[in-house]
Amino acid sequence: MSTPLLISTWSFSLPIIEVEFPKLAAAGTALDVVERCARVAELDESIDSVGFGGLPDREGRCTFDAAVMTSPPESGAVCGIERHRHPVSVARLVMEQTEHSMLVGSLADDFADEHGLPSQTILSESAKLKWEAWKQTNTPPIPPPLLDDGTGELFGSHDTIGTLAIDAGGAMAGSCSSSGMAWKVPGRVGDSPIIGHGLYVDPLRGAATGTGHGELISGICGSFLIVELMGRGASPEDAIHDTLARLAECWPLKKEHQVAFVAITPEGKYAAGSLRPGFKYAVCDVNQQVVLDPTVVLHS
Ligand code: GLY
Repeated sequence: MSTPLLISTWSFSLPIIEVEFPKLAAAGTALDVVERCARVAELDESIDSVGFGGLPDREGRCTFDAAVMTSPPESGAVCGIERHRHPVSVARLVMEQTEHSMLVGSLADDFADEHGLPSQTILSESAKLKWEAWKQTNTPPIPPPLLDDGTGELFGSHDTIGTLAIDAGGAMAGSCSSSGMAWKVPGRVGDSPIIGHGLYVDPLRGAATGTGHGELISGICGSFLIVELMGRGASPEDAIHDTLARLAECWPLKKEHQVAFVAITPEGKYAAGSLRPGFKYAVCDVNQQVVLDPTVVLHS
């Protein structure tokens, strides 16, 4: 347990947070750092579940969801962004420049235009090719298993980047960015941009972010529940375990269902957990810069 602390979902995030940690440890704010981490993933075409590399809906149309949060009164989110490559920055503008907490669809894109963010194509050529290949198979839109087993083979099958930080001044922030579920029904929004579902930050109680099948996370307000349990005295590990157990109790789980969370306390304790094996997360603090297996795996 130590602060500053930077923690993020999936092993692909380690190189991103390794670059950002020194800034967090110096004068960088937690909010700037979590936004930048999401922005890097959003531009990386090799990440097929976030930003520019993200896979489209079943009609071949790409939409992005994102959120940022520093406290219950301070959050911003966008869903269904179609013309801007950095939904996390649009979410931050919503938080900082409006009295609101969420903007949706083309109106969120118009808002980004008004604030000078460049309008761009967001469906990458690689994502388009993957969609065309999927269309040929004529199979139902079941997403591939979410595995991060280090073999490289399935590395493309990860999900949302969720990042949590505590800066040198003790301020906490979180960000979450996703292109949503591959081949989704047009208009579908997952957990990532919904405060309390894919992301929740309360400086008095802690922070949590989720990844995996958004509908499962949303059904139990997953990130809020973890933070609430920590606020009532649970360790991050126990809070994640109890939240995953609650989810498993509520849902008739299918083999392709995967959900994972990372969580931190205001003091810098952290943990991660997943419904099934295959999830990894990245941690940077003054002692380590590592990819770790979750301490909790509900169904091993
Ligand atoms: N966790 C991302 C999504 O379901 O959209």
